[in-house]
Amino acid sequence: MTEKRADITIQAQGSRASFRQPELELGKGLDVGTANLVSAVQDKEGNLTIKSQRNAFIDIEQDDFTRNMLTKLGVQYVVLNGRMVVIGDPAFELANIFNRETRRPMKDGMISPKEVDALGIEKLLIEKLLGPPQVEGELCYFSVPANPIDFDMNVIYHKGVFEGLLSKLGYTAKSLEEGFAIVLAELADEDFSGIGISCGGGMHNVCVAYKAVKALTFSTSRGGDWVDRNVANALGIKASKATAIKEKGVDLRNPHGREEKAVEIYYRELIKYTLINIKKRFESSDHMPSFPEPVEIVFAGGTSMIGGFEEVVRDELEKIQFPIDIKHVRRAEDPLMSVAKGCLVAAMSDL
Ligand SMILES: Nc1ncnc2c1ncn2[C@@H]1O[C@H](COP(=O)(O)OP(=O)(O)OP(=O)(O)O)[C@@H](O)[C@H]1O
Ligand SMILES: [Mg+2]
Repeated sequence: MTEKRADITIQAQGSRASFRQPELELGKGLDVGTANLVSAVQDKEGNLTIKSQRNAFIDIEQDDFTRNMLTKLGVQYVVLNGRMVVIGDPAFELANIFNRETRRPMKDGMISPKEVDALGIEKLLIEKLLGPPQVEGELCYFSVPANPIDFDMNVIYHKGVFEGLLSKLGYTAKSLEEGFAIVLAELADEDFSGIGISCGGGMHNVCVAYKAVKALTFSTSRGGDWVDRNVANALGIKASKATAIKEKGVDLRNPHGREEKAVEIYYRELIKYTLINIKKRFESSDHMPSFPEPVEIVFAGGTSMIGGFEEVVRDELEKIQFPIDIKHVRRAEDPLMSVAKGCLVAAMSDL
């Protein structure tokens, strides 16, 4: 089995992958996402290394046949409470092969209350991505959602859980709101002024900033998982299968066939819902800065990767008469990496 996305190593400057272990700067960034966990580090030459794993696992009966099969496929597993558990990207691939659902440690942006094994799995995945700290107490900024505006939930428990987990691994953990991470990663040319929106699996996270100062942050409770759940219901398939169809490359402007049409219908609804909620929140806030000029709005996160995303966003923004003058709607160059990069920027500037 090939691990297509596992441990992707991206050299931001200089394009050749290298196998030697370069000396790293101190400080790490970690994007704790409902769908993906992503880490970011930088070496002394300024090259960025990003690693990612699906935030998912699958447990399998412990018998010789399965053990041999996993070994032959080169899939790593751990034994947890007497069951074989496969974590991360291979779990997602196995789920689709066996027509099963993956189990997910997080739901709607936060640690899942329904998953008893969630913490153990998160620890394994984070250890795999971050490795040990380079010095005791190395700083690690991790992303947290802002409190949702359309859902009664606060992030205190979630934040505490990951702080604890990271400090058990030897890090000094500091949290960073996900929308603000997008501003730090993507709006440097704008003096860190504008609107950053992270379109994730569990939710959307929004941050309005003026000269690197947060003015307003919040989240809305629908993301890519919402599309998958609804497409799965509409087509009578598993949600993991719906995810695979969606990620294969659908263009919202030109969907092909019944499955892509279902993705398009729910995707447009998701974008509309999210922008209307953002508009309402902006209109009811006392904290909105009065920007002297039209602002840049930058989208990141996996859910912004669908074909035609920016066009649909622009259409919907026009329809709802957005309360702020927008100079430009843009998608981050590497949407899946932005939050981790923003966390790394915070860690390195904190040092
Ligand atoms: N090419 C693609 N087209 C459409 N959606 C995609 C694509 N690639 C990934 N996604 C979706 O992006 C979402 C994951 O994005 P991301 O990794 O930014 O979320 P997350 O940070 O894990 O979640 P959250 O921030 O909500 O906790 C999933 O719903 C995934 O299916
Ligand atoms: Mg995210």
